[in-house]
Amino acid sequence: MRALCWHGTGDVRVDTVPDPSILDPTDVIVRVTSTAICGSDLHLLDGFVPTMEPGDILGHEAMGEVVEVGKAVTRLRKGDRVVVPFVIACGVCWFCQRGEYSGCDVSNPEAAMARKVMGEAPAGLFGYSHMTGGFPGGQAEYLRVPFADVGPIRIESGLTDEQVLFLSDIFPTGYFAADLCGIEPGDTVAVWGCGPVGQMVIRSAWMLGAGRVVGIDCVPERLAMAAAGKAEVINFEDETVYDRLMELTGGRGPDRCIDAVGCEAHGLGSPDTVLDQVKTPVRLATDRAHVLREAIMCCRKFGTVSIPGVYVGAVDKLPMGPAMNKGLTFRMGQTPVQRYMQPLLEKIEAGIIDPSFVITHRLPLEQAPEAYQTFRDKQDGCIKVVLHP
Ligand SMILES: NC(=O)c1ccc[n+]([C@@H]2O[C@H](COP(=O)([O-])OP(=O)(O)OC[C@H]3O[C@@H](n4cnc5c(N)ncnc54)[C@H](O)[C@@H]3O)[C@@H](O)[C@H]2O)c1
Ligand SMILES: [Zn+2]
Ligand SMILES: [Zn+2]
Repeated sequence: MRALCWHGTGDVRVDTVPDPSILDPTDVIVRVTSTAICGSDLHLLDGFVPTMEPGDILGHEAMGEVVEVGKAVTRLRKGDRVVVPFVIACGVCWFCQRGEYSGCDVSNPEAAMARKVMGEAPAGLFGYSHMTGGFPGGQAEYLRVPFADVGPIRIESGLTDEQVLFLSDIFPTGYFAADLCGIEPGDTVAVWGCGPVGQMVIRSAWMLGAGRVVGIDCVPERLAMAAAGKAEVINFEDETVYDRLMELTGGRGPDRCIDAVGCEAHGLGSPDTVLDQVKTPVRLATDRAHVLREAIMCCRKFGTVSIPGVYVGAVDKLPMGPAMNKGLTFRMGQTPVQRYMQPLLEKIEAGIIDPSFVITHRLPLEQAPEAYQTFRDKQDGCIKVVLHP
């Protein structure tokens, strides 16, 4: 089959690789009909995530048709149309029982490797390095899906691929990030990053009762999309984010601050950004955490900082003193996607949201390498790319 493979920093190619097959009785094989590129894939492209190996198949936002079914699978049948969550979860371990699927203790065969650097191992993830299991990803013609009774959600309504594809990741991720904030009616929610995840955060914050939503970015078309989602917007190249947020909140700061940027934040030559930019390329630091620092400084006392943005290692110069003295709450995590798929599918079916609004580019899988560049460099108005194998 054809698949998008990682060959090193900045180097992804569509290669011919062996078709996947059923390895465990709980597997299914899905013929991928639509798959997307995520901001998380950019951290792989840019070499921020360790334990990648040349030839690894990327992609963790995929859907399609079940074409083969393992003997122990009871919920799915050949011919079912499914969306596959990026998190692989067993459904029965202590964490899965609590709905903390991205903490699954069973699905990551490389748990020992992850435990060394994280203390404990996260769940297996599709297409996201060997530390999260080394599972081949979904930017491919076919995808092997382990624990198929727990992950994929069947789509039986006439919704299009584009309407449901983002149940695999960014819609649940945006909703989870807003949900973690414990938004109280009328709260001001500030969202750093108006990429695909930030866009979903903005819509989810409204659904969860925000009174005011502020989107922060520097890319005009992303700010325009945030404004179309009824967010007030701040272009951090034109205005000082802290000053503007204080002005908007009468000097108190936003109640809920959401970092939908993660480890590759840009800054405008602020001292912390300069240090990060010098240190990350030579591996003296793992993350460029300007947004996380800024969110901590801006958040109101006793407010919440929620972090869907991906971080990789130990963050330098985290303003822990301000966080402690302001009484902030931190919430974060890889999304336990399975927990949100059904309720969010119902929101799509009810017409409350159509997540396809975020798509700007639709391309054949063969053009994935160019699509990665366009998405990374934010050229051509690119916000979200859907690939068709
Ligand atoms: N927690 C999860 O389970 C999960 C799931 C999906 C994605 N993610 C992560 O969410 C993050 C966002 O994903 P995406 O697909 O939207 O990525 P993206 O790269 O398209 O978007 C990031 C946005 O942040 C903006 N940005 C950069 N520096 C900024 C700054 N200083 N202030 C404000 N905005 C700034 C960029 O201009 C860009 O628009 C990534 O880190 C991704 O890995 C996490
Ligand atoms: Zn993703
Ligand atoms: Zn589990």
